[in-house]
Amino acid sequence: MKITMIGAGYVGLVSGVCFADFGHDVICLDKDEGKIEALKQGQIPIFEPGLDHLVASNVASGRLSFTTDLKSAVAESDVIFIAVGTPSRRGDGHADLSYVYAAAREIATNLTGFTVVVTKSTVPVGTGDEVERIIRETNPQADVAVVSNPEFLREGAAIEDFKRPDRIVVGLNGNDQRAREVMTEVYRPLYLNQSPLVFTTRRTSELIKYAGNAFLAMKITFINEMADLCEKVGADVQDVARGIGLDGRIGSKFLHAGPGYGGSCFPKDTLALVKTAQDYDSPVRLVETTVAINDNRKRAMGRKVIAAAGGDVRGRKVAVLGLTFKPNTDDMRDSPAIAIVQTLQDVGAKVVGYDPEGVENARKLIDGMDYANDPYDAAADADALVIVTEWNEFRALDFARLKNVMKTPLLVDLRNIYRKDEVTRHGFSYASIGRPD
Ligand code: UDX
Repeated sequence: MKITMIGAGYVGLVSGVCFADFGHDVICLDKDEGKIEALKQGQIPIFEPGLDHLVASNVASGRLSFTTDLKSAVAESDVIFIAVGTPSRRGDGHADLSYVYAAAREIATNLTGFTVVVTKSTVPVGTGDEVERIIRETNPQADVAVVSNPEFLREGAAIEDFKRPDRIVVGLNGNDQRAREVMTEVYRPLYLNQSPLVFTTRRTSELIKYAGNAFLAMKITFINEMADLCEKVGADVQDVARGIGLDGRIGSKFLHAGPGYGGSCFPKDTLALVKTAQDYDSPVRLVETTVAINDNRKRAMGRKVIAAAGGDVRGRKVAVLGLTFKPNTDDMRDSPAIAIVQTLQDVGAKVVGYDPEGVENARKLIDGMDYANDPYDAAADADALVIVTEWNEFRALDFARLKNVMKTPLLVDLRNIYRKDEVTRHGFSYASIGRPD
C-alpha cells in the first residue's frame, strides 16, 4: 500500500514509521520545513524510545521518506492518514479542528483514483462527516472513502503499542466494502498476529476513542480519591488497588495512585468529551467530575509537600525530581509538576528541578525555577525532595549521599516508588500517597 501520513508530529511519525516497518511505502508529510529537513538528516523531533533506529532502518530500506510536497504525495497514495494536532480551543475547551479541516481541503484537490482518507487525529463525533463534506464540496469528482481510525498509543511505549495493540478500531461510513478491504490490507500484519480489528460506524469509532480515554482517566481519579481516603482512615491504597484489581471485571491496570494525570491526551480529551456531551444535551457527569477532581489534585499535591515540610516553606529550597507528565518522554503538557512547582513558589519556596529529558520543555512552561544536573545536585541544601515523575533513575537513589547534601532529609514520594522503611532507615522523614506514613 502507498500511504501518506499528514502531520509528522507524535502520532503521525510513530504511525508512519511503523506502517513502513510493516512493508508499506510511507511518505510522512509536514508543513514545517525545518522539521522535515531535520527528519531527512535523521534527527527525530521527539523523544520516544526506539524511534530513531526504526526511522533509520526504514529510510535505508527506501520504504519511508519525508516531504513538504502535499500534491505529489497525495496523488500517488492509496491511503492518506490525517494525523495533525487537535489542541483544546482556547476559551471553551472544544477540540480545535482547524488543522484537520485545512488538511481535508488540501487533500481534496489533489486526489487521483480511489483513495481512503483516514482521520487518525483524536476528533469529536461528527468530524468524519465534515471531512467528507469538505472533500466532496471541494472536489465533487473525488473517488474517496472517509474513515475513522483512532490511535491508542502511550507515549514512551508507542512503538510497542502500535505493533502489539489490544485492538484496532476502524469506523466506516455505512458498510463501505472498498474502504474495509483497504483498511484490512493496511493492518494485515497485525491482523495476522491476532490483534482484533473492530469495524464499526464512523461516529461510533470517533466516540470509542474518547470513551476509552475518559474511562481510564476516571479509573486513575477513582484510585486517587481512594488514596486520599486511605490516608484519613489508615489504610494502604496499593493493597486496595491490588485487592480490587485482581477482580477480572475491574483489572489491575491504571490503578496506580499519584499526583493526577497529565499529558497530551487525557486532559484534552476528557474536556472535549464533556463539551460534546453538553452540546448534545446528554451530559457525562462522571467525566465532568473527573476533570474537576484531577485539576484540583495537582495543586493539592503542592500543598501536601508544604504540609510534609512542616507547613511553611517560605525561603526554603524544595527539589523536584521528574517534571514530565510521566517517564520516558520529554512531554510537559499538563504535567502535574507545573501546578506543584507553582503552588510551592506561590508560598515563597525556592524550587529546583531535575528531569532526564524534560528540561527544555519545562523551561517554556515554568517560570522562576532553577535546574540541576542530577538528583544529588538538585538535593543540595534542600529542605525537601519531591518525586513527581517515576523515572527509573529515581528508583535506586543513594539515600546516604542525599542525606549528606540535604539540609533537611525529607522525601515526598508522589509516585509511591519506595516503601517507608527503605527510606526512614536512612534517617529520612517520608510521605507518600495513600499509605500509612
Ligand atoms: C494515553 C492513553 O493511555 C493512550 O491510549 C492514548 O492514546 C493517549 O493517552 P499517554 O498520555 O501517553 O497515553 O499516557 P498514559 O500512560 O496513559 O498516562 C497518562 C497519565 O496518567 C500520566 O500522567 C500518568 O502518570 C497517569 N497515570 C497513569 C496514573 O497516574 N496512574 C496510572 O495508574 C496510570
